[in-house]
Amino acid sequence: MIERKASRTAVLVCQGRAVADGRLAVGRFADPLAADLLHADEREPVERVRAGERPAGFGPRMEFELLSGTAELMAARTVAIDDGVRDSATAQLVLLGAGLDARAWRMPELAATAVFEVDQPASQQDKRARLGDRTPLAKSLTFVPVDFAEDSLAARLAESGHDPGVPTTWIWEGVVPYLTPDQVAATTALVAAASTPGSRFIITYPVPSPRNALGRKALGLLLRGARHPNPLANEPFRSSWTPPVLESLLAAHGFEVTTDIDLLTIARDLDITPGRPRFLSTGRIAIADRP
Ligand SMILES: C[S@@+](CC[C@H](N)C(=O)[O-])C[C@H]1O[C@@H](n2cnc3c(N)ncnc32)[C@H](O)[C@@H]1O
Repeated sequence: MIERKASRTAVLVCQGRAVADGRLAVGRFADPLAADLLHADEREPVERVRAGERPAGFGPRMEFELLSGTAELMAARTVAIDDGVRDSATAQLVLLGAGLDARAWRMPELAATAVFEVDQPASQQDKRARLGDRTPLAKSLTFVPVDFAEDSLAARLAESGHDPGVPTTWIWEGVVPYLTPDQVAATTALVAAASTPGSRFIITYPVPSPRNALGRKALGLLLRGARHPNPLANEPFRSSWTPPVLESLLAAHGFEVTTDIDLLTIARDLDITPGRPRFLSTGRIAIADRP
């Protein structure tokens, strides 16, 4: 068995939502729980970005830039996913690699929906400790510990009360890059096997980008040189997808792509003017339905 730590990238994207809350796409995006879920030392850099205070040291400055870009990306992808969830209005919602996602606590539209949060066990334990006794708005919330690299998603979901005969919306947000192509294909097959007609699969994914790969490498080296922690260090990128390749994987499992759009276009539609457009243009969100 692989011993994993709680995901650090889950904290990074939660910090991004906390930066964006009340500042980006106001009226369309809000995640007040994001800041509450952060520990004090994780909230400090968030507050600096919200205040627009560029720190002096090189490491904190890099962190400032990373969080600013992450906030833009998170506002765009959250709004697009929330819209996709509202439109499908299924009785079951499964979040695959849920991290510190707050949908079950912040979306009143889920009042009639059974929500299942799937994540690797260490990340899930960490989230539960952060949540304390907060009550979800969803009809029910079930935590399902699963490591996509080694556990059977189908078996764990069935034990947890997920009904494959009832339409399900699946959200796979910010997880695909951390899985190998084989793991992505295997998980897609399991999702399909538990998806009756009327189900929806929402996936965010990165397109291949040698420039981004180089950027991540440079960021790692620079942060190491500055002796500043690198939030991406323990979770290497393992896969990226072109829209046609993802579409054919989904089609092979009975899902038809309804929309597939890049995050830069979504951000611009929300009147977000990204400081780092390329960061957003290489991320996409596909919404696929099972007719
Ligand atoms: C960047 S975070 C995204 C979290 C959340 N979906 C969001 O957007 O806020 C990546 C998530 O993928 C999960 N993850 C990565 N590899 C995994 C695996 N092999 N099995 C289960 N979960 C995994 C991590 O635990 C983490 O919660």
